[in-house]
Amino acid sequence: MDSLPPLLIRDARLPDGRSGIDLLAEGGRFTAIGPALPAPAGVEVLDAQGWLLIPPFVDAHFHLDAALSHGLPRVNASGTLLEGIALWGELKPLLTEEALVDRALQYCDWAVARGLLAIRSHVDVCDGRLLAVRALLEVKRRVAPWLDLQLVAFPQDGLLRAPGALANLKRALDLGVDVVGGIPHFERTAEQGGESVRLLCELAAERGLRVDMHCDESDDPLSRHIETLAFHTRRLGLHGRVTGSHLTSMHSMNNYYVSKLLPLIAEAGVHAVANPLINITLQGRHDSYPKRRGMTRVPELLAAGVNVGFGHDCALDPWYALGSADMLEVAAMGLHVAQMTSLAGQRQCFDAVTANNARILGLEGYGLEVGCRADAVLLQARTPEEALRLRAQRLAVVRRGGVVSRMAPATAHLSLPGRPARVDFTRQMRAGAAGADR
Ligand code: FE2
Repeated sequence: MDSLPPLLIRDARLPDGRSGIDLLAEGGRFTAIGPALPAPAGVEVLDAQGWLLIPPFVDAHFHLDAALSHGLPRVNASGTLLEGIALWGELKPLLTEEALVDRALQYCDWAVARGLLAIRSHVDVCDGRLLAVRALLEVKRRVAPWLDLQLVAFPQDGLLRAPGALANLKRALDLGVDVVGGIPHFERTAEQGGESVRLLCELAAERGLRVDMHCDESDDPLSRHIETLAFHTRRLGLHGRVTGSHLTSMHSMNNYYVSKLLPLIAEAGVHAVANPLINITLQGRHDSYPKRRGMTRVPELLAAGVNVGFGHDCALDPWYALGSADMLEVAAMGLHVAQMTSLAGQRQCFDAVTANNARILGLEGYGLEVGCRADAVLLQARTPEEALRLRAQRLAVVRRGGVVSRMAPATAHLSLPGRPARVDFTRQMRAGAAGADR
């Protein structure tokens, strides 16, 4: 796509509040940003009409191998994590590489249409055929021009619990999978969980790879593998390259222990990923009332200086019967579950599906600055907070300076006496009334 003609985006509003901004993309990167830029010869123009332009959405945690398999071979009756894992085990022998590729490509189409242009997906390595690994490596190659797909070697059935899992995980890395995964809380004992964390961190250090573990996805407050993950991250000098995903047991831990734990995570530079849609759905299933929400302590992690991202995790699969690649839906759910309703909290939730996730993936050239990759999303909203409230339409999606998706504005046509003919749910402010009704 680097051979595309230059693209001039006219009259955009940016997340920092600047309006009337033009952005020029040439050779796949932004080369000028400012008001009233001159248009080079032969330039293509995208008129933003004052709508909000943001860098693309990024998903730091997904399972593309299971996506869109809902109902195969049956649905999850109890709705629990453990039945989901058992159900996935029933489906695995029935999978074909062709069907995996088809479903993954369909989801990637949805992602691009939603302005989601980078996904970190775990891929199950416990099947000795490595069928899903081969399928997703093929998908990664095919979608590369329009979507960055980063793959995590994920031992779904346990690194030490499932026969051959460690060898399979190494084979997956040899084939080109990018990141080392794990699932310490699913090993047979807490000791084996800790041992798996040590082995996997050492493997990542040896190979110069990043780590992203499903860590403490449990309502058991004694599931404390995040402590061990932070310890080995620091011991091996892996700062900034390790992610603890889910961390739901932290919801149920006592406050005294958490007050010790948070500084350890921050000191090690371990990123945290919450998966709001899935955590609110799967956790607390063994509770009567009150039912725990189960999501990790997002505001407290942020306050301790930890980089926190949100993931979609699942869509139409054995664990989750909904989902449509909408990272605004993910952020809105996180906002509600964590009660981050202040303006600052809403902005943090928006960051959790954009810039924070870009840091977790280590994306090069992410952002709306001169020199960054010319990737952007035009939303039918004027602020990030409005985008969250409306799950705003993605009016246009730009990848490497080319428009790859367009969506019609959400507009209703009213037939009401004395009222406007059209509504689009954005907030229309009367002149001089800004802030008057806050
Ligand atoms: Fe997951």
